[in-house]
Amino acid sequence: MFSADFLVFCSILSAAWCQSVLIPKTLNTTSGSCILIPCQMTTISESVLDNSPVVSWRRGSLWKYYDTNNFISEHRQKEPEMELIGDLRKKNCTSVMRNLTGQHSDHYFFRIQTTNYTFTDNKPVKITVSDSLPEPNVIVPGIREGEVASLTCTVPAPCPSLLPNVTWAPVFGGNITQGIQLKADGTLSGFAIWEFVPSFTHHELKVNCVSVHPVDGGDKQASKQVILSVEYPPKETHISLPGLVWLGNNLTLTCQSKANPPANHSWFMKREGVEEKLGDSHVLSFIATQEKTGEYICEAQNLQGAMNSTSLQINVQGISFTTFLSILLSMLLVLILSPFLILLFHRSRSKTPHRHETTEVENIYANSSTVKSQ
Ligand SMILES: *[C@@H]1O[C@H](CO)[C@@H](O)[C@H](O)[C@H]1NC(C)=O
Ligand SMILES: *[C@@H]1O[C@H](CO)[C@@H](O)[C@H](O)[C@H]1NC(C)=O
Ligand SMILES: *[C@@H]1O[C@H](CO)[C@@H](O)[C@H](O)[C@H]1NC(C)=O
Ligand SMILES: *[C@@H]1O[C@H](CO)[C@@H](O)[C@H](O)[C@H]1NC(C)=O
Ligand SMILES: *[C@@H]1O[C@H](CO)[C@@H](O)[C@H](O)[C@H]1NC(C)=O
Ligand SMILES: *[C@@H]1O[C@H](CO)[C@@H](O)[C@H](O)[C@H]1NC(C)=O
Ligand SMILES: *[C@@H]1O[C@H](CO)[C@@H](O)[C@H](O)[C@H]1NC(C)=O
Ligand SMILES: *[C@@H]1O[C@H](CO)[C@@H](O)[C@H](O)[C@H]1NC(C)=O
Ligand SMILES: *[C@@H]1O[C@H](CO)[C@@H](O)[C@H](O)[C@H]1NC(C)=O
Repeated sequence: MFSADFLVFCSILSAAWCQSVLIPKTLNTTSGSCILIPCQMTTISESVLDNSPVVSWRRGSLWKYYDTNNFISEHRQKEPEMELIGDLRKKNCTSVMRNLTGQHSDHYFFRIQTTNYTFTDNKPVKITVSDSLPEPNVIVPGIREGEVASLTCTVPAPCPSLLPNVTWAPVFGGNITQGIQLKADGTLSGFAIWEFVPSFTHHELKVNCVSVHPVDGGDKQASKQVILSVEYPPKETHISLPGLVWLGNNLTLTCQSKANPPANHSWFMKREGVEEKLGDSHVLSFIATQEKTGEYICEAQNLQGAMNSTSLQINVQGISFTTFLSILLSMLLVLILSPFLILLFHRSRSKTPHRHETTEVENIYANSSTVKSQ
C-alpha cells in the first residue's frame, strides 16, 4: 500500500519531507479588495505548534531577496498585508491578504517557521489582482411557459469581509434568493437564484445579473446580460389571405402563429362535412376552382403543443375576374350608350308607319314636315 509505506517513510524521516499544503493553484481578486487563501496542512508536528510558528507567504518575484541582508524595507513594502485566520492547531493555515493592488499579482509560496524549523511549500498559489471584475457566471436552463424557471448567477467572492451583492434585474415576478456559498476548493462565491413562472410575453426579453462588489473607495459593478428564450406552444394562429377569391386566381394562404420553437404548419379543408389534409407548409397555394370552396383551417404545432386557427370560409365564385370585368365593362358600355341607343331606337320607330305615342321632338318634326308640305 502506497499510503501506508508513505506514512512509515514520513515517520522515519524529518516531517519536512512529508509536509505538504493544500492550496488552490490560482486565485483572482480585484484591486481594492482582499483575498482569502484557503489553506490546509496535511501534517504538522506538536513541537512546531508549541514553538510559536509564524506563517508567511513569500512572493516569487522577491525570492532572491529573502533571507539576505538585501531584503530591505523597499522590498518588504511590496508584500501585501497578510493575516493568518485559520487555526493552526487544526492544521488550518487559511490566510487573508488585504489592500491588494495590481502590483501584488504574483506567485506566493506558503512558509511556516519556528526558531529551529522551516517549511516552505514548493507549489505556489498564483494570485492575480485585476482592476476589472470577472463577468458573472449565469446558468439558464431551458425555460418553458408555465413551469417554474430558475436562473442562477454566481460571482466569485474572494474577500470574505467585502462580499458582493448579486441580483437580477429587471425581475418579472417570482422571487430572488441571495446568498454566499462555500465551494469545494474552499473559496466563496455569491449567488442569486431567480425563480419565476415565465409566460410567452417574456420571450426574448433581456435580463441582467448584476453584482456589486464593495472595494476600498467605492463599489465596483459587473453584469451579464441574458436574453430569455421561453418555449411556448403556438399562439395567435391565423390565416391571412391577400387579394380576392375569383375563379382561376392563384390563391396563397399564409398561416401565421407565434411559437417558440417556431411551429410546423398543416392545412385542413372541410367541404360538405368531409375533411381533407392539404399540406404541411406554412403557405398554401392553389388555383381557385369551384371545388376549392370550403372551410380552411391551419394547425400550428411545435413540441410544446398545437393550436388551430379559426376556420376561413372560401367561396369561389362561378365566374372569373376577367369574365366579371368584361361583363362589367359591357354593362358600363350599355349604360353610357343607352341615351344614344334610346335615341336611335326612337328614330327608327319614328320612321315606322303607325305611331301610338308621340314625343315633343317627334311632334316638332311632324309639324315642320306638315309646314313644308303645306
Ligand atoms: C483567474 O483568472 C484567469 C484569467 O484571468 C483564469 O484563467 C483563471 O481560471 C482564474 N482563476 C480562478 C480560480 O478563477
Ligand atoms: C479554516 O479556517 C477558516 C477561517 O477561520 C474557516 O473559514 C475554514 O472553515 C477552516 N477550514 C477548515 C477545513 O476547517
Ligand atoms: C486596507 O483595507 C481596509 C479594509 O479592507 C481599509 O479599511 C483600509 O483603509 C485599507 N488601508 C489602506 C492603506 O488602503
Ligand atoms: C526545536 O526546538 C524546540 C525547543 O526550543 C524543541 O522542543 C523541538 O524539538 C525542536 N524541533 C526540532 C524539529 O528540532
Ligand atoms: C443588494 O442590493 C439591493 C439593491 O441594489 C438592495 O436592495 C439589497 O438590500 C442589497 N442586499 C444586501 C445584502 O446588501
Ligand atoms: C419563490 O418562487 C417560486 C416560484 O414562483 C415558488 O415556488 C417558491 O415557493 C417561492 N419561494 C418563496 C420563498 O417565496
Ligand atoms: C401560385 O403562386 C405561388 C406563390 O406566389 C407559386 O409558388 C405557384 O407556383 C403559383 N401557382 C401557379 C399554378 O401559378
Ligand atoms: C416539424 O418539421 C420538421 C421538419 O419537417 C420535423 O423534423 C419536426 O419533427 C416537426 N416537428 C413537429 C413538432 O411536428
Ligand atoms: C385542428 O383541426 C384539425 C382538423 O379539424 C384536427 O384534425 C386537429 O386535431 C385540430 N388540432 C387542434 C390542436 O385542435
